[in-house]
Amino acid sequence: MSIIKNNFEKMNITKIQNTKNKRKLTMITAYDALFANLFEDLADMILVGDSLNMSFAGQNDTLSATLEQMIYHTNAVCNGAKDAFVILDMPFGTYINKDEALKNAVKVYTKTNAAAIKIEGGEDKAHIIEHLTKNSIAVMGHIGLMPQYVRAEGGYKVKGKTQEEEQQLIKDAKAIESAGAFALVIEGVKSDVAKKITQSVNIPTIGIGAGKDTDGQVLVWSDMLGFFDKFKPKFVRHYLDGASLVKEAVNQYRDDVQKENFPNKDEEY
Ligand code: KIV
Repeated sequence: MSIIKNNFEKMNITKIQNTKNKRKLTMITAYDALFANLFEDLADMILVGDSLNMSFAGQNDTLSATLEQMIYHTNAVCNGAKDAFVILDMPFGTYINKDEALKNAVKVYTKTNAAAIKIEGGEDKAHIIEHLTKNSIAVMGHIGLMPQYVRAEGGYKVKGKTQEEEQQLIKDAKAIESAGAFALVIEGVKSDVAKKITQSVNIPTIGIGAGKDTDGQVLVWSDMLGFFDKFKPKFVRHYLDGASLVKEAVNQYRDDVQKENFPNKDEEY
């Protein structure tokens, strides 16, 4: 039974773009049908992020996620949230050149109901984004701290700390917009720089660790619901103490089993 009533509107690219300077967009990750169904009429977009490789598969970074895994999880999400605008995050190595990118994006469109794909990279990836958008693939860009660059950059580094970085980020955003991307994730960027990037493009920017002045926000569901309790990045807000609630519930179950309180007469055949 849901206690939440809202005016959910099924989104498409045009509606997403029309929100710019009108209202903020909410995006959340999901990796399975169960949670996608819970988020479906609450968030504007659901991202099947390659973050699933960390939060779901327990790996140290996103790099070993495969296209087959992303397709599997995207199908689960689309099954659970039939009306949601679902975006598949293209994993590392699947868009190394424009032909490979198009081949893999077509695979995504033919094997899932994803509305769009997301790829990491700035000016350097603009030719790939252009090739995809010219071939009818809807693309969301991703600049700033790009988790797929973690090994190349020697860690996760907040961007926009120098004039050069600021100028490059603005160039990246403009190149991605010109290449035809419908929106752009800005991750791990100084908030004043994220604001300037947002003002420099006409497509919506979705921030994560980029302050409040982007056109929307995205969070990884297991972070925001407090299921990942080992470490809380500065930009994450916990809206639920998920880990404690689950542990308390399972502990209660174990207690009931041990004390023969579960199952009771009403719970047996
Ligand atoms: O993989 C992911 O979940 C993402 C978001 C953090 C934007 O790319």
